[in-house]
Amino acid sequence: METAKNPQNLSQNQSRRVSTSNDLEVSTYLEIAEHKTGQKSVMTKEPAAEPEREAIVIIDFGSQYSMLIARRVRELQVYCELVSHDTPWEKIASLNPKGFILSGGPSSVYEKDAPLAPSYVFEKHLPVLGICYGMQSITKQLGGVVAPGNHKEYGHSVMHLSRMDSPLFNGLPETLTVWMSHGDKIEQMPKGFTSLAYTENSPVAVMGNDQGIFGLQFHPEVVHTPEGKTILNNFVYSICGCRGNWTIGNFIEENVSRIRERVGDGKVICALSGGVDSSVVAVLIHRAIGNQLTCIFVDHGLMRKEEVERSMVTFKENLGMNIRLSSSAERFLKRLKGVIDPETKRKIIGEEFIRVFEEEARTIGKVDFLAQGTLYPDVIESASSGSKAAAKIKTHHNVGGLPADMQMQLLEPLRSLFKDEVRKVGSELGLPDDMVWRQPFPGPGLAIRIIGEVTKEKADLLREADYIVMHEIKAAGLYRQVWQSFAVLTDVRSVGVMGDFRTYGHLLAIRAVTSDDAMTADWARLPYDLMARISNRIVNEVPGINRVVYDITSKPPSTIEWE
Ligand code: XMP
Repeated sequence: METAKNPQNLSQNQSRRVSTSNDLEVSTYLEIAEHKTGQKSVMTKEPAAEPEREAIVIIDFGSQYSMLIARRVRELQVYCELVSHDTPWEKIASLNPKGFILSGGPSSVYEKDAPLAPSYVFEKHLPVLGICYGMQSITKQLGGVVAPGNHKEYGHSVMHLSRMDSPLFNGLPETLTVWMSHGDKIEQMPKGFTSLAYTENSPVAVMGNDQGIFGLQFHPEVVHTPEGKTILNNFVYSICGCRGNWTIGNFIEENVSRIRERVGDGKVICALSGGVDSSVVAVLIHRAIGNQLTCIFVDHGLMRKEEVERSMVTFKENLGMNIRLSSSAERFLKRLKGVIDPETKRKIIGEEFIRVFEEEARTIGKVDFLAQGTLYPDVIESASSGSKAAAKIKTHHNVGGLPADMQMQLLEPLRSLFKDEVRKVGSELGLPDDMVWRQPFPGPGLAIRIIGEVTKEKADLLREADYIVMHEIKAAGLYRQVWQSFAVLTDVRSVGVMGDFRTYGHLLAIRAVTSDDAMTADWARLPYDLMARISNRIVNEVPGINRVVYDITSKPPSTIEWE
C-alpha cells in the first residue's frame, strides 16, 4: 500500500503561484453578476476608465471557466474585463481595448437564440481569440459551418501544430497536450481562415486568418493545458501588442481612489470576520477613508476558537481601526434551532448577519455602505439557475442571502479577485503574514460543518476538535500548503470503547484539501503520522467524540464544505 509521506499535491502546492492581479471594472462585473444571479445590484456606476489604459476584453458566453481566462490575462499583467455578450461598444471603448477574447459557453451556435459576439468584435479590426464556443461563434458569424461532432472530445488531447510560423505559437513545441471540452466541431472554416493545428478528432483544433482572428477548440486557460499560458501570452503581447502595465499596486491605487470618490463623506460599515477577505477589504477601505469606516465583528457563536479575540487585538490594537464587537451568539442559535437544511442555515445566518449590522448602524447614525469581502468564486458559484451560464451550486451567504429590504448599499472591492490575488493585495497593504495566509472560513461558520441541527454544545465540541486540527496542521508545517483543513461534526454516532467502558459518541470527519481557487480541489495527502496524531488527540481531548474519519473526495464531485 502506498503511504502518504511525500504527498504529491502538497509538494506541488508549495510552489503555488501568487499571481499579480488587477481590478475588473466594478460596474461591468456587477452587470455580469446581475446577469448571472438575476439579482439587482444596489451599487452605482463607477467612473470611466482612464484613457491611457490598455485592456483585453473578454466576451463572456457563460463558461464556468470565463473568469479563469480573465485571471490568466491578469497574471500576464494585462488589464482585462469580462463583459456579457450584449455589452454596448460605448462601454468597451473607454477601456481602450487592444483585443478580444471570446469565452467558451454551454450553448451550441446552431441552436435558436444562441448568444453571438457583438458585431463590433469583427468591425473594429482588433485581434480576436475565440476559445471553444468562442471559436464556433467566430465560425458561424464569419460564414463557416459548425456541426455536432461525431465524437465528443473531453479531457486531454494531443495536438500537432501544422503552422509553426503562426505568432500564436511562438516558443511552442510541435506537439503539445491540450484540454478539450466540446461536442460541436468546425465543419467548414470561414473564408480566409486556415487550420493551424489538429488533433485526432479535430482537424481544426486551431484556426486563424491574416486579420489576427484566431480560434482555439481547446481551453488554454485551464491548468490541464500546460502551454496554455504561452498561447495567451503570445496573443496578448505578440498579436495584440499589449505593454503589460497592470499590477497589484495599480489595483490598490485605483480602488482607493474609487472608494474615496464613491463614498464621499458617507459612512461605511465593514463586515469583519477575521478571514483574509474581510480583513483585506477593511484595510483597503480604511486606507481610503480612515475612520469613516466602522468595522463590526459579529460573533455569531459559530467562529473558530480564539478567532474573535485574535481579530480584536489585530485590528483594534495593532492597526488602530475603528472596530466594534457584537456578541450575538444567542440570537443566531435561537434562529437555527431545529434547522437541518444547509441552504436554510445559510439563508438564516445571512439575514441575521445583515440585521445585526443594521442595528449596529442605527447606534452610530446614518450608515451608507456595507462593505463585504465577496470574491469572484462566490459570485459565479451563486449564479442563479435562471441563467444558462452556470448551474446554481450553493447560495453563499455573502452573495445570495442578502435581504431584499437592506437599507445600505454594497461595497465589494474584491468582487473580481481570486483568493491568491487577495492575499497579494493584503501583503502589499501591510497585513501580517498570519492574517494574509489564514485559511478560508465560510461566512456561516461552523453551522455548515455541523451536520443536522446546530446547538451550542455541538458548536463547542466542534470548536475544540477544529482547534486541534488547525494546531497540528500548523505544527506539521502544512498550514499554508493545504487550502483548507478543518473538522466536520457529523450526525452519526458510533460505538467505541474507552478504558473498560463502552462509549456511544459522535463521528468526526477531517477534511483537508489542496486547491488553487476553491473551484476545484483535491483531498490533501496528509502524512499518516499526522492523521494519527490528530485522531488520537481529538478522541482523547474532546469528550463526546470517539471516532475520526478522513474525507478522501475531491471537488467535483464533492464540495469542500460538507453543507
Ligand atoms: P464549497 O463547499 O462550495 O466551498 O466547495 C468553496 C469555498 O467557499 C467557502 N464557502 C463559503 N464561504 N459563505 C462563504 O463566505 C458560504 O456560505 C460558503 N460556503 C462555502 C468554502 O469554505 C470554500 O473555501
